[in-house]
Amino acid sequence: MSDIAPRPPATPEGVHPFPHRHLTGIQGLQPWEIMFLLDEAEQWIALNRGSAQARHDHRLAGLTQINAFFENSTRTLLSFEIAGKRLGADVVNMAVAQSSVKKGETLIDTAVTLNAMHADVIVIRHEASGAVDLIADKVDCPVLNAGDGRHEHPTQALLDALTIRRRKGRIEGLTVAICGDVLHSRVARSNILSLTALNAQVRVVGPPTLIPAAIDRMGVSVHTDFDEGIAGADVVMMLRLQRERMAGGYVPSPREYHALYGLTPDRLKQAAPDALVMHPGPMNRGVEIDSVVADDPDRSAITEQVEMGVAVRMACLDVLTRTRRGVEGWA
Ligand code: CP
Repeated sequence: MSDIAPRPPATPEGVHPFPHRHLTGIQGLQPWEIMFLLDEAEQWIALNRGSAQARHDHRLAGLTQINAFFENSTRTLLSFEIAGKRLGADVVNMAVAQSSVKKGETLIDTAVTLNAMHADVIVIRHEASGAVDLIADKVDCPVLNAGDGRHEHPTQALLDALTIRRRKGRIEGLTVAICGDVLHSRVARSNILSLTALNAQVRVVGPPTLIPAAIDRMGVSVHTDFDEGIAGADVVMMLRLQRERMAGGYVPSPREYHALYGLTPDRLKQAAPDALVMHPGPMNRGVEIDSVVADDPDRSAITEQVEMGVAVRMACLDVLTRTRRGVEGWA
């Protein structure tokens, strides 16, 4: 549909493909570093589709992976757990509800405690923006951000980019409309950073109350009319209406929100005829997206996004622990 933009550059000669100790965000990554992680993830897709006996690799054997999720999660927590186990790590999920956090232990004390147990990699989700960077500063091992407040959700953006690249054959030059509750969405922010770095044209679409001020400075166009915003788009990425982060007044009611910003089969006709529908989950069916669209196997990539999540998280765990494992070229 859209004009072809230049492909993102390959890793320049003599440059390390991923010289980062942590993955706390897409911010600060070079386009070739994003592409490197996507390329690394490709190998794990085939492994994950194999037989139960074949779905294992032992490169993280002996390493301890701690998943500390201070906010609820289904997809991210389980896929990080499966990813770690498929790579042979000893995976421990911190039960936050039963932990000393409930007795008032601070985030930094919790981080120092996990560090003292000689974790080899820590995966964190936290409701406060910036909490993961804070922890990364206090521990000796790599830290992966599994979503912090409204800030970033880097592995979600990577799995989304991988899904788009596999379905469309490219990312550069595509028009991607990110629609709905952009204001509260770390998924939107990480996707904007990643997709603009990879030379996609990104639009944000939603009611004025749910679009952050000055978001156009991130290189996106802003649309408050849904039909106009998705017109001709190659990818329509719907976002969850995050009612738990709203004190009230952002939207009149879920019903009215659906009438103006819900993705229905009729609305989808405005997008490109082969437009891909995405949603990071969990979905509010009948609010931001109709079931008939979400469950259409020809248009919707929602379950594929979940599948790519395991592969991307395997790639991130592998790459970020290479220095620790003394892998040649990484030590
Ligand atoms: N997309 C996403 O982060 O889903 P979960 O909250 O279920 O992990």
